Amino acid sequence: MNIVTYLLNLICSGVSAYLAAYLIRDPLTRPNALAEAELAESGSVPYFQALSARAAAEGDAWLAEKLASHAADEERHGKIFAHALKQHIGEKWEIPKRNIFYTLYLQEYSLASLQPHTIDWSVFMGSMYILELDASKEIARMANVLPESDRLSANLKKGLSSIAKDEVRHAAYLYEAMQRRMSQDTVDRIINEWRTRQIQAYLTIAMDIIQGVERQAMPQNGALYSWV
Ligand SMILES: [Fe+2]
Ligand SMILES: [Fe+2]
Repeated sequence: MNIVTYLLNLICSGVSAYLAAYLIRDPLTRPNALAEAELAESGSVPYFQALSARAAAEGDAWLAEKLASHAADEERHGKIFAHALKQHIGEKWEIPKRNIFYTLYLQEYSLASLQPHTIDWSVFMGSMYILELDASKEIARMANVLPESDRLSANLKKGLSSIAKDEVRHAAYLYEAMQRRMSQDTVDRIINEWRTRQIQAYLTIAMDIIQGVERQAMPQNGALYSWV
């Protein structure tokens, strides 16, 4: 990673962690943040299950097992967010919009090439590693800012802390999965590539906001996660 990418990474991850924390702490934006998280977590479950079946069919029992437990974790995360969202019944929140970030992050990859039975393993592992690694930090930050004073926030705080631990584990097995299949040089190159793609996606979003450009989320979002 060159120094510019490194600095941009610091800024982007700082901003997104700050935003996540802000959205979960404010009672007005919390239901929306929960709804978005619930859809993203539950929506990824069938994808990981299908990938697990593929890994098993290809004879990689280690990866099949990791992906199956990843699917189970994401299902549990979805339930934690759904449960927290239920506490906000009667309050106003909107059905979240599809997230433009994934469209930009996965630019140049067709919907067909991102399906669990077609995706290149290195594309899956590299792109997902970056997402899981950052999710672990963002969710830990969300947990940190929640107060323990009321029961609802305290419960959510506990749930988020356990989710953050799972995300750390997900990032770790994805890293190991890359190391099992590729040389360390290749692993470093792939991680660098996805980090750069992520930063470019954030920068494009920032420029769009400044310039008032409205971009449509594309269907390739639907491959990695059925919803986002
Ligand atoms: Fe998760
Ligand atoms: Fe995860």
